[in-house]
Amino acid sequence: MLDPELTKELSNRAQAAYGQAYVPYSHYPVGAAALFSSGEIYSGCNVENASYGLTVCAERNAIFQAVARGERKLKGIAIAVPTDVFPSPCGACRQVIREFAEDCLVYLINGQGETKVTSLKALLPEAFGPEYL
Ligand code: THU
Repeated sequence: MLDPELTKELSNRAQAAYGQAYVPYSHYPVGAAALFSSGEIYSGCNVENASYGLTVCAERNAIFQAVARGERKLKGIAIAVPTDVFPSPCGACRQVIREFAEDCLVYLINGQGETKVTSLKALLPEAFGPEYL
């Protein structure tokens, strides 16, 4: 478990991030905030494209920003949406999370501000990772 204050900060950052989402096609904004080993939090939103397949999820945008700043060890990630139904990271994002964490906490936040806590291992069991290569 992370420090409760840090958890709160992570969910606040994820909730703020979906406000920047560019979602003219799905109208489904997602925000993500990723805590890395330096203690820094990086946030991102989903960014869609008229060529639909080029869409990038909020989770990957947050993680890639961190990596571009030299971060390599992901400690936890919060994913927030404004809808009643809790979010769930897509398969591609689960695999990208796995690249930077063998396991980590995953906080899922719905539009009521309720939080469900899970882990990467629960979301992606028996995962393929960098140590296989
Ligand atoms: N989306 C995310 O940003 N993260 C996920 O884990 C699930 C899907 C986005 C992609 C697209 O912009 C919209 O949600 C609908 O699929």
